[in-house]
Amino acid sequence: MNIKRSSVAKTIGILTAGGDCPCLNAAIRGVGRAAQSRYGMKVMGISDGFRGLIEENVRLLNPEELSGILTRGGTILGASREKPFKSDIRESDEIIGDKVHAIKKTYKKLGLDCLVILGGNGTNTTGYRFSQEGLNIIGLPKTIDNDIVGTDRTFGFHSALSIGTEAIDRLHSTAQSHSRVMVIELMGRKAGWLALYAGAAGGGDVILIPEIPYDIQAVARHIEEREKAGKRFSIVVVAEGALSIQEAAMDKRERKKYRAENGPSAAYRVAREIQEASGKETRATVLGYVQRGGIPSASDRVLATSLGTAAADLIAQGDFGRMVALHGDSIGSVELKVPEGKIKSVPKDHYILDSAIAVGTCIGV
Ligand code: F6P
Repeated sequence: MNIKRSSVAKTIGILTAGGDCPCLNAAIRGVGRAAQSRYGMKVMGISDGFRGLIEENVRLLNPEELSGILTRGGTILGASREKPFKSDIRESDEIIGDKVHAIKKTYKKLGLDCLVILGGNGTNTTGYRFSQEGLNIIGLPKTIDNDIVGTDRTFGFHSALSIGTEAIDRLHSTAQSHSRVMVIELMGRKAGWLALYAGAAGGGDVILIPEIPYDIQAVARHIEEREKAGKRFSIVVVAEGALSIQEAAMDKRERKKYRAENGPSAAYRVAREIQEASGKETRATVLGYVQRGGIPSASDRVLATSLGTAAADLIAQGDFGRMVALHGDSIGSVELKVPEGKIKSVPKDHYILDSAIAVGTCIGV
């Protein structure tokens, strides 16, 4: 049994916000168990992200509820994309003010000494805004996109990478059977990390990511060169945010119109463009939300747990306004301002890009 250590915090709240991902429960377990057993804190679970604070949908997380959740996908708390500071067309400024006020009121009513938020870019940015409003906030970087500035990796990414790689492996046999070009779309929002890693791991012949607008003629030429070399099929891995050089030259309005006419999915646009440019029979697969589900990988479990327990340590020290992070082979933290409003993109000189090119992969140029 851990000897209780001193802590400046007595009661904390935990919420999960934004898109879910594997290992949210492992992180909740890490924060909650360390807070309870190492520091004797009271741990409150907030349902459905920030909406739970607005609606006072909160419950005590006892040790039993934190048991048996390490390997469960999803989040026992539920998640939402409620953005308290973000006004949309339906919400006037006073409603935004009411939401922020309601959250601060619930925080006070619960007697929270700290609010722990498990989220992506948007959620950690919201956390930073609330720390500026005087709330004690600790952020944990979660997302399958791996696009959060300030941490070397986010939990959820490795699990989605395994799922994407397995899907690419499976596409090889059907592509070979039918001498087809198979296009598979992976998630990642505006970053290409998932497509790059899974494309490299799965032996994709073409990898298209948002950071490098693609020339479909270069892709078609690569497929034709493979054909001449006797390769009857090709696997094209496309990040959902990938765009052609033509689309990259469009402004937001033109691109929206183009996608309304040519389909919202990168995979289906690329498949049609390849078939038109190469004449090869082409099929598209959008892996979608499968990448966010199911049992988390071992690597993600260890990272999520370690980030969770490190969050409890920061809280006990009263070191608020920070996001725990993986830095090399150690767990550190950065100010919540660091990831605010930013996206970590694949650098054009990334070693995996160079390695993929070296083994003959086309990256769309
Ligand atoms: O951020 C995680 C993510 O899965 C992205 O990869 C994807 O574009 C987005 O969420 C989907 O958002 P939603 O779950 O709101 O449809």
